[in-house]
Amino acid sequence: MNVTALIVAAGSGSRMGGEVPKQYRRLGGKAVLAHAVDALAGHPRVNKVRVVIGDGQQALAEDALAGREVGPPIIGGAERADSVRAGLAAIAGEVVLVHDAARPFCPPAVIDRLLAALAWQPGAVPVLPVADTLAKGDKLLGEPVERSALVRVQTPQAFRLEPLVEAYRRWAGPSPTDESTVARAAGLNVALVEGDPALDKLTGEVDWERAEQWLAARLIPRTGMGFDVHAFAGEGPVMLGGVAIPHDRGLAGHSDADVVLHAITDALLGAAGLGDIGEHFPPSDPRWKGASSDTFLLHAAQLIGAAGGIIDHVDCTVICEEPKVGPHRAAMRAAIARLLGLAEGSVSIKATTTERLGFTGRREGIAAQAVASIRLGTTS
Ligand code: CTP
Ligand code: MG
Repeated sequence: MNVTALIVAAGSGSRMGGEVPKQYRRLGGKAVLAHAVDALAGHPRVNKVRVVIGDGQQALAEDALAGREVGPPIIGGAERADSVRAGLAAIAGEVVLVHDAARPFCPPAVIDRLLAALAWQPGAVPVLPVADTLAKGDKLLGEPVERSALVRVQTPQAFRLEPLVEAYRRWAGPSPTDESTVARAAGLNVALVEGDPALDKLTGEVDWERAEQWLAARLIPRTGMGFDVHAFAGEGPVMLGGVAIPHDRGLAGHSDADVVLHAITDALLGAAGLGDIGEHFPPSDPRWKGASSDTFLLHAAQLIGAAGGIIDHVDCTVICEEPKVGPHRAAMRAAIARLLGLAEGSVSIKATTTERLGFTGRREGIAAQAVASIRLGTTS
């Protein structure tokens, strides 16, 4: 079963307010949209994730997604249903999981239940019972509404792609707020599976506070360290922190020899307990010859994201007599922050000499030490 997750993120978040639409706001240091993408992409049965964004949100989305593999963003429309239609038109495969970006946490067990239900129905949605008393009401309380037969419908909503596309084609009513409404109207059976409170949508500010608390309770801080050395050889420039620094000598290495990115990559892998850079990118592998170290750093960040983790901060000390790092510090921080999807304030670059002692003091090479602070789920 080929499964594509379609995440709709083209809304304006008017009820939440804030400087940027809620799906691009950072929750525990990571954009809400990135949480949603990681949750779905991390499920072993999800083959592909695509994202629908609003026209004009390209820069926000690029920032939020920080190199995650979601293909080119699909441009949505004025209403959620318009965005879903645009998304459905851009994907292929057998099964689609349509999901709101505004629901950042998706337990894998919910996806298991949804996909299992598709074995016997064309659609399935996660639902929860209604716990509060329900009643009509305007200024004064009106008639009670029997709640025992009611459910709250969440996303992701799983459908066989073709029948859902056909259902949307036939839909003639006012703009629907979810897929199950459209599917039912077309006569499709929609199975109910157990939802999860973690999937509740972020709609207003109170939901934001709840989500922050939910996240904080499930993540524990972890720290990793990294160290790397490259010898001077040949001609400059030297790559440091993703920035080409003019220098009369270059650095020897299988890749671009960016000691700063290598040390930070190892610190991130260490924090997550995921081995080291040599294991992930063996120097014996010709694919990494002359490779940009951006690839290594992005890979480490993606592994942490896929494990549901958050990168809080990285700090690196560059150890060399030359070149002078100070004039390039701001550019290095900006480059690393962009790669990791962090604020520049969460990236630190420092430099020191070794008072002419040792190999760095003799100008034989450059060393870098890094520390990374991340938060990772207690089960990871
Ligand atoms: N959505 C979308 N395209 C739209 C409207 C909404 O892709 N034209 C997405 C939102 O980004 C969100 C999901 O649909 O992930 C659920 O919508 P909602 O919670 O209503 O988000 P917004 O429309 O952004 O918020 P509001 O209604 O408060 O403006
Ligand atoms: Mg809306």
